[in-house]
Amino acid sequence: MMSKHITIIGTGYVGLVTGACFAQLGHNVVCLDNNEEKIVALAQGRVTFYEPNLDEMVTKHCEQGTLHFTTNYSVAIKHGEVIFIAVDTPSQKDGSADMSRVFGAVDGITDYMENDKVIVVKSTAPIGTCRHINNYIAKRLDGRHCTLNFSVVSNPEFLREGSAVSDFMRPDRIVIGTFESKSRQILRELYQPLIDDGVLCVETDPQSAELTKYASNALLATRLAFINEISNLCECVEANMDDVSFGMGLDKRIGPSFLKPGPGFGGSCFPKDIKALVHMGVEYNCQMSMISTAIESNRLQKIRAVEKITRLTGGLFGKTIAILGTAFKANTDDVRESPAIDIILHLVLEKANVRVFDPQATNNTIEKLSSTVYYAENEYDAAKKADVIVILTEWKQFAALEYNKLADIVKHRIIIDFRSILCKEDVVNAGFTYYRIGISENH
Ligand code: UGA
Repeated sequence: MMSKHITIIGTGYVGLVTGACFAQLGHNVVCLDNNEEKIVALAQGRVTFYEPNLDEMVTKHCEQGTLHFTTNYSVAIKHGEVIFIAVDTPSQKDGSADMSRVFGAVDGITDYMENDKVIVVKSTAPIGTCRHINNYIAKRLDGRHCTLNFSVVSNPEFLREGSAVSDFMRPDRIVIGTFESKSRQILRELYQPLIDDGVLCVETDPQSAELTKYASNALLATRLAFINEISNLCECVEANMDDVSFGMGLDKRIGPSFLKPGPGFGGSCFPKDIKALVHMGVEYNCQMSMISTAIESNRLQKIRAVEKITRLTGGLFGKTIAILGTAFKANTDDVRESPAIDIILHLVLEKANVRVFDPQATNNTIEKLSSTVYYAENEYDAAKKADVIVILTEWKQFAALEYNKLADIVKHRIIIDFRSILCKEDVVNAGFTYYRIGISENH
C-alpha cells in the first residue's frame, strides 16, 4: 500500500481517533490543533479524554514517528497531501450548526497552501458544506492569482465514543462524496487496507455523503425515542420490555441493535445533529416533523425519569439520592447532553441532596454541576444514607455491586435502574426493592 501524508485539523474525539487510526493503517500523519496544552500532552502520548485503546495507539505511533502533533498551521498544511477537517460544529441557539471552526480551518489551509491538496470534511456539516467550501477556496485563491488545484470531499465519520478505535478499524461502511474521480481514488487508497478486508465503500456526490451522516444519526435517535416510548407503555400495561425488544429485534428488517430503552439519548452527536437537520428542513421549507417529535420525546423521557424518582421516593424535598453514572453512556467520560445531567439538575432544583459517582466522568461532571452535588469516591460512598440509588449510566462495574454491603449503608433499600443492567434476583435477595425501566412498578 502507498503510504500517504495526511494532516488532521482538530484533535477532539473524531480528529484524534482518525489520526491515530490512519497512522495504524500505515500513513504518515500530522495532527494540528490550536490548543497548545493539548498538543504538548498528546506529543507525550497523553490523551486528554477517556477512549479505550487510544492512548496505546497514540504512544506507539508517536514513538514510531508516524504520528506528529503541532500547533503550527504552516508545518501542518505543508505536510498533508490530504487534509482532514475534524473540528466540531456545535449547535447554535436556533439549532443550526456553528461552522466558524470549519471555516477557520479552511482559511488556515488556503493561507498556507503551496501545492495541490485534497481537503476532506470529516466534521458533521450541513448539506451543501463541501460545495460552499469549494466556492469559497476558489474565490480566495483567485484573489491571490493562484492556480493551485484542490478538491473538496465529504467523508463523514460513524464512530461511537467508547468504541471509536474498533469502529474506525471495522466500520460498517465508508462513505466518500466527491465532485470528481481523482480525489475519490485518493480517498480509496487511504482506506485500502479496510477495503481489502471487505468493508464496503459508498462512492457518491458530497451532498449525498453529507446527508447520509445526518440521516443515519437521525434515524437512530428517532428509533431510540420510539423505543423509549414503547418501554414507557410496557410499564403501564405490565408488559416486559426485554421480551418486547427481543421479539422485535428478531425481525431481520428491524434487527436487534438500538432497542434498549434508557433515561433519554444524549452525547455530542444525536441531540446536536437532529436539531441541525430540523433547522435545515426549515431553511429549505421541507418539514422534518418526525425528527422534531423525536427531540420532544427525548425531553419528555428525562422528565419522566424525574417523575419516577419523585414518585418512588415519596417526594424529593430533603431526600438523599445516590446517582450512579453521569456519562451519557458507558465507556466514555463525556457528559455532553447527558440525560443524567438534566435529571440531576431537576433533582437539585427540587431540593434533593444528590451524591454522584461516575468511574470516568467526574471531572467533566464538576464542570457542569459545580458544587450543587456531592462527588463520591465510589459507589458505596455515593450510597451513604441514600433514600434511593438511581442508575443512569450502564457502566459494567455497577452490575457487580455488592448489594449486601450497600444494604448496610443506605437509609432505604430502593434501587431504580434506568439502564436495565442489574440482576433483579441479586438485588431483591439483599432486601432491596428494585424498579427497572420498561417493567411495571407493580412487579
Ligand atoms: C453516535 C452514532 O452511534 C455514531 O455512529 C456517530 O458516528 C456518532 O454519534 C457521531 O455522530 O459522531 P455516540 O454519540 O458515540 O455515537 O453514541 P451512541 O452509542 O450512538 O449512543 C447515543 C445515545 O443513545 C447514548 O445516550 C446511549 O445511551 C443511547 N442509547 C443507545 C440507548 O439509550 N439505547 C440503545 O440501545 C443505544
